Amino acid sequence: MEKKIYIETYGCQMNFSDSEIVASIITEKGYSAAEKADDADIIFINTCSIRENAEQKVFNRLKQLQHLRKNKPDLVLGVLGCMAERMKTSLLEEDQMGGMRVDMVVGPDAYRDLPQLLLDVESGQKAVNVILSSEETYADISPVRYASNGVSAFISIMRGCENFCTYCVVPFTRGKERSRDPKTILREARLLFQQGYREITLLGQNVNSYRFREDQNDTIWSFPVLMMAVAEIDSSLRVRFATSHPKDMSDELLEVIAAFPNICKAIHLPAQSGSSTVLRRMNRKYTREDYLDRIEAIRRIIPECAISTDIIAGFCGETEDEHQETISLMKNVEYDFAYMFKYSERPGTLAAKKYPDDIPEKVKSQRLQEIINLQNELSLKSNQTDIGKVFEVLVEGKSRKSDKRVSGRNSQNKVVVFDDNGYKPGDYVQVKVVECSSATLKGMAVK
Ligand code: 5AD
Ligand code: SF4
Repeated sequence: MEKKIYIETYGCQMNFSDSEIVASIITEKGYSAAEKADDADIIFINTCSIRENAEQKVFNRLKQLQHLRKNKPDLVLGVLGCMAERMKTSLLEEDQMGGMRVDMVVGPDAYRDLPQLLLDVESGQKAVNVILSSEETYADISPVRYASNGVSAFISIMRGCENFCTYCVVPFTRGKERSRDPKTILREARLLFQQGYREITLLGQNVNSYRFREDQNDTIWSFPVLMMAVAEIDSSLRVRFATSHPKDMSDELLEVIAAFPNICKAIHLPAQSGSSTVLRRMNRKYTREDYLDRIEAIRRIIPECAISTDIIAGFCGETEDEHQETISLMKNVEYDFAYMFKYSERPGTLAAKKYPDDIPEKVKSQRLQEIINLQNELSLKSNQTDIGKVFEVLVEGKSRKSDKRVSGRNSQNKVVVFDDNGYKPGDYVQVKVVECSSATLKGMAVK
């Protein structure tokens, strides 16, 4: 009988994109998808290591899943992704895992090996492949978009990261930076468009350092060149990208974003901190002034652009003054949106080796709360300035709160909710904003 697989994904968009690659690799080998974990013969947990609480969540879930073994002694439980890479075979040691059993450990560059690893497990062995590759981009694999809304899709265009921000585990879990052949990216994007998708997000840990050299004709594909080629597929295909590093946010890229109406006017530009001394300890390779120079360039070249960020509160040695510099940076930029975190020391990172995690938990929490409160105000202010404006909204589906309303996003990546006049996912609708909260715009279709 056909074995059923269930994939559960934690972490970043890249991980969700990887799960679609995993689904493709295993369905080709005749495994089918289970609707829920309880119905599966094989469960893969695609994991994240970015902060300790991300790993804690996975441990709790692994523990919860153990009870399924009572009725299904042959259940295969596989840990995939960043935790697999970070923790390797220790995940298979039941005594180190508080008695929990894991059968497979597979790192982010080893998914082509999954069918063989599954055979190994079926023959009674535990299976591991955590080899990182300097070349693997899964370029030829067509992702199975099993959890898709049929409107927006991710295309992974590069993998890995070599920036070595001192707090970050990603260079260790995802290895060297490598860019995918643009021909395969464009093929995937065209196919998605033909299938009815209307929004593509180009993904990479450090997407704007994308660089591919075509040896045949000695051409270099930079990120702006690739963006342009994707945007030219069709003017009704929106293009987004995530995540970018401020050091690679060139004027050339900003000019391409400005020139194409279908390249979305939303830039996620993680600052992490507003203090140059903290940024140096983080090895971010820019100062507060450099960062503000890029913000100024965005405002000048793309005036209608939304800007979002990531902020870490309570990094090693952060003084109250340094924290206040983050607050002042946020006020200065007036971010539309932000992801905000407490610093979490990750084993093996440069910060873990070099700097003590010396900000008391209470202080970290206070600083994070101050950052969150400020961002709530900034997000509300940003949304309030949209009242009265008309935006083109790409409909994604019914609103979560009411099936009489639909929900979609504008170019600035803000969620807009409005009355459903029989719209379908994938429709573009002109919507006038009439009301807002700090999280959502409410509007009325015009025309
Ligand atoms: N602690 C807290 N936040 C972190 N991030 C990355 N590493 C850590 C860490 N050790 C945050 C950064 C990054 C986002 C994806 O997660 O802000 O941009
Ligand atoms: Fe988490 Fe980073 Fe791995 Fe994504 S790349 S899953 S954010 S650790």
